[in-house]
Amino acid sequence: MADTITMIDNRTGKKYELPITYGTYNNYGAAISTMDLRQIKSSDDDFGLLGYDPGFTNTACCRSAVSFIDGERGILRYRGIPIQELAAKSHYLEVAYLIVNGELPTKTQLEEWAKQINSHAMIHENIKKFMDGFRYDAHPMGILVSTVAALSTFYPEAKDIDNPAVRLQQIQRLIAKMPTIAAFAYRHSKGLPYVYPKDSLSYTGNFLSMMFKKSEGAYELNPMLDKALNVLLILHADHEQNCSANAARSVGSSLPDPYVSIAAAAAGLYGPLHGGANEQVLRMLNEIGSKDKVPEYIQKVKAGEFRLMGFGHRIYKNYDPRAKIVKEMADQVLEVTGKTPLLDIALELEKIALEDPYFVERKLYPNVDFYSGIIYQAMGFPVEMFPVLFAIPRTAGWLAQWQEMLQDPDRKIARPRQIYTGSDTREYKPINKRK
Ligand code: MLT
Repeated sequence: MADTITMIDNRTGKKYELPITYGTYNNYGAAISTMDLRQIKSSDDDFGLLGYDPGFTNTACCRSAVSFIDGERGILRYRGIPIQELAAKSHYLEVAYLIVNGELPTKTQLEEWAKQINSHAMIHENIKKFMDGFRYDAHPMGILVSTVAALSTFYPEAKDIDNPAVRLQQIQRLIAKMPTIAAFAYRHSKGLPYVYPKDSLSYTGNFLSMMFKKSEGAYELNPMLDKALNVLLILHADHEQNCSANAARSVGSSLPDPYVSIAAAAAGLYGPLHGGANEQVLRMLNEIGSKDKVPEYIQKVKAGEFRLMGFGHRIYKNYDPRAKIVKEMADQVLEVTGKTPLLDIALELEKIALEDPYFVERKLYPNVDFYSGIIYQAMGFPVEMFPVLFAIPRTAGWLAQWQEMLQDPDRKIARPRQIYTGSDTREYKPINKRK
């Protein structure tokens, strides 16, 4: 079998044979290069054929070895390891190492990685002052995006992106400082004094302490909540070429330092269609109000009055494997934090929707955002913090994608084409002649 495809241009009758390239699995990643389409011209002065794909729905923008998703079968693996295994057996810092470096660490490598990240958790006092400058009611995600970009001015050496040691130091700094910036952003919005990171605490323990510590005493870490947070961080650590990862790669392709590339990624995450989606789910569950109102709500969704938030995904045409794990964890978390009627409403909504042909035919299954907001809220996080909670773990994924892009021999500055739909050449009209 020839690994080519033959195309006939019916405008000219000409035949073209284009090569097909493959990823690791033929059925995931067989592709033609859209540059090969350029030779297809209707006349000699024709520019050549472009691929048109708004939102990249069927365009691979890179080759990547970080995450693998089989959306039809509901599979997600980081560096080949199924997320179910990582969620059950690992912890976030180990997964971050795996995602960034491609392999699970040895004991010594993990200790060194954790030590470095711990040592970079503190932020410069001037960064703290910078954060103080935000309005008292500033959205924590706005603070996070700006503060991460501002880190660029504190580490000018980070511009040396071709130096692996420099890159590693910025990667460790970013993974380390994200929880600190996130917690400071939250405490700023509440007018609470900042709590500094402590060497003796774990990554997740530190974050919870910086968020919720109240008085002089030590923050009492509940092991169940620590575990739950670890699982949630693991599940959000990477998700191949999503909007924010694409922003990290696209901005990074002009070769700035990683702080501005990661700030761009965080900005991509901010919107309600990406990192803000679980907030929409929570608002929907609150609006429904009680379990018995679910059938009525479903009817309204089917009538086109509302969207069912937290259902459906561009890539998954099956249950999002992350949602399954989060759902299983919800009960355990609520056991510690106390019950919320929102979980019952969510379970009922899922049950009815999964039996209803309307949703089944459209392959609308719960995605990761459907249950995560319930857990975060039960743990005491306000809804404004939800996209921030997504940004903390996704930093490892963004950095892995950014580094992979830099090391890719096919790397080019991101520069899509367009299909021009404006007017043909026109004359400039003086203002007194315009109608
Ligand atoms: C993600 O985890 O980034 C979201 O599910 C969005 C996506 O993959 O498109």
